[in-house]
Amino acid sequence: MSIATHERLIRPARNIYGSLKLPGDKSISHRYAMLAAFAEGTSKFTNFSTGADCASTLGCMEALGAKVNRIGEAVEITGVAGRVGPAGHSRDWALDCGNSGSTMRFISGLLAAQEGTFTLFGDASLSRRPMERVRKPLAEMGAQVTLTDGHAPIAIEGRRLHAIDYTTPVPSAQIKTCVLLAGLQTEGTTTLREAVRTRDHSELALRAFGATLTRTIDSVSIAGPQLLHGIEAAVPGDISSAAFFLCAAALFPGSGLVLDSIGLNPTRATLLDVLTALGARVAVLNLEEKHAELVGTVQITASEGGLGSTTVSGTLAAQLIDELPVLAAIAPYTSGGIRIRDAKELRVKESDRIALVARNLRAMGAEVEEFEDGLDVPGGQQLHGAAIDAGGDHRIAMAFSVAALRAEGETLIQGAESAAISFPEFFNLLDLVAER
Ligand code: S3P
Repeated sequence: MSIATHERLIRPARNIYGSLKLPGDKSISHRYAMLAAFAEGTSKFTNFSTGADCASTLGCMEALGAKVNRIGEAVEITGVAGRVGPAGHSRDWALDCGNSGSTMRFISGLLAAQEGTFTLFGDASLSRRPMERVRKPLAEMGAQVTLTDGHAPIAIEGRRLHAIDYTTPVPSAQIKTCVLLAGLQTEGTTTLREAVRTRDHSELALRAFGATLTRTIDSVSIAGPQLLHGIEAAVPGDISSAAFFLCAAALFPGSGLVLDSIGLNPTRATLLDVLTALGARVAVLNLEEKHAELVGTVQITASEGGLGSTTVSGTLAAQLIDELPVLAAIAPYTSGGIRIRDAKELRVKESDRIALVARNLRAMGAEVEEFEDGLDVPGGQQLHGAAIDAGGDHRIAMAFSVAALRAEGETLIQGAESAAISFPEFFNLLDLVAER
């Protein structure tokens, strides 16, 4: 399917001011949708992600036999109670994962232990992304998973698996989730070890749906098989979408932004610490817990003195992986610059985000140094408006829309439609809070 590309003109702003409620977290929405589709009973979610990625997950779940009823930002899902498709029938499924790495990698784990033959495919960007990282642990479990030259399409012949103890070579919540979903259906205890604690939404969501799992500081274990039960939940606002607005507000002394009901899971909320370290004033109000996920209101004001400097590396880089493009895009406006290392995973996201950030910063007149695993973006630089190539990557389109707010002259975001992958409302909401 070809999607028309759109350009979006971003004019500089004087300030960022206002209050917003953001659509539901993409990571949590994927997990809730998949677990609900696999559970017994009916689940109901409000504030479900409006992004195209989560629509891909819903589409796949429907194809696998779950009943999905979407009413605005709410979704009702009746699950298949542990077995996809009509009982006792082995069938061929072709499942379109669109642009969504989470959909493809999670479903691989879910289906490797199911009866049937499955082909998972996606768009050109998803078909370039590495899939050996999920094939390997699944193959160790005895799964029959065939890649196409290390990539999608993925062919899966579902079968009974055996439990494993696996250490992930790359910090990735998608690999962890894939293994847990296979382990959920497999007799014995499957353990996943990770050197860096990646986002733990799967662990929290599995428990919310009634599963038992045990955790240590660096591992999670699940004893299968277990049946899940449907839940009702409000999905917290997406902090990775909030990141664009928080970074925008951090650029303007005198700004004031309030973001309501944002997911503040500690494995996701590191950006708040980084912005605070850079000099922004960040406050969290009304903190509560919903199905073990922390949710709160975030208030941000830029300091009169502007933003300082910081280095993001090690564990921090893994936990901030989705926020690094926008941090790099605002780095020229800091006084001391931003240094990013240990982030080579950025090269295998929806685009090569290191190369594309560097190229687009240069197009806006910035000096930037590219490394295999990161970037050095010096501070104290004034950018000018330019034509930006989003490269079909939602986070690049939005990151450079934020950089454009403080540039001299107008910026043209080419491929602006890609924002809809995670955040279709982005440009409208930006217009609401950008004072010109
Ligand atoms: C995600 C994990 C991360 C992240 C992606 C969503 C998830 O990917 O970049 O946007 O929901 O588990 P990796 O697991 O590949 O790091």
